[in-house]
Amino acid sequence: MNMKSYVEACAGGDGARRTEEILLRIVPAPEAHARFVNTLSRLEYVGVRKMLKSRRAEALDLDGLQHALDETIHALRLKKMAVALAGRAPGAVDTYADAHTLAGGAGEAYLQGLDAAAADAVADVPDDQRSEANYRLTSAAIEVRAQVFYPIYERCLRAHGIGHSVASIVRDEDRHLEEMAASLDERRFEPAFAVEEQLFGRFLDAVDVELRAIESARRGGGAVHRPLDAAAGGVGER
Ligand SMILES: [Fe+2]
Ligand SMILES: [Fe+2]
Repeated sequence: MNMKSYVEACAGGDGARRTEEILLRIVPAPEAHARFVNTLSRLEYVGVRKMLKSRRAEALDLDGLQHALDETIHALRLKKMAVALAGRAPGAVDTYADAHTLAGGAGEAYLQGLDAAAADAVADVPDDQRSEANYRLTSAAIEVRAQVFYPIYERCLRAHGIGHSVASIVRDEDRHLEEMAASLDERRFEPAFAVEEQLFGRFLDAVDVELRAIESARRGGGAVHRPLDAAAGGVGER
């Protein structure tokens, strides 16, 4: 199975379907949207931190250095986007703390869970090659998800006429995926890939819970004064 087939399998999964459903509720709600984009920034940042901590200088080449830099830029771009979206609520997305993200902790747990699954998959690799093998597996699984997630997100942004784009991130992640594919050990990748869908589903569960809380707080507030609006529309459509 080549990388494109993994992306197609991921795109046909439950996680992708739910991604679209949740993003269509998040994007029209500026507060939730700003916090969610800050969560994405946190994920990119934690990805960089993992890369820097796990990769040995002896194994780091030009592509490796470029990868760390690209992910840092993604974290920065998404952070700036979150700050811009928060506009009228300065300080709302200052840090990556729970109050400033949407399920930020669950997002980080997704990456840690993937790391642990990859560690199991490479347990029999010789000591001096193990963390590099883990990096390749974890990155490949994340890049597959990124190639499914970011295009869906881009379509939601366009559908709602939001003046931000993640197109340049999609292009970078596509290049990273090709690099990971070049040296992928499929026998080890299969179990990590299967676990990724479950872990991502748990992250979406957590996003959904926090989103519902924001939606019901807004609906509750609106219903006091405008019961018809609240009954007919719902928060997401205003
Ligand atoms: Fe990235
Ligand atoms: Fe990447």
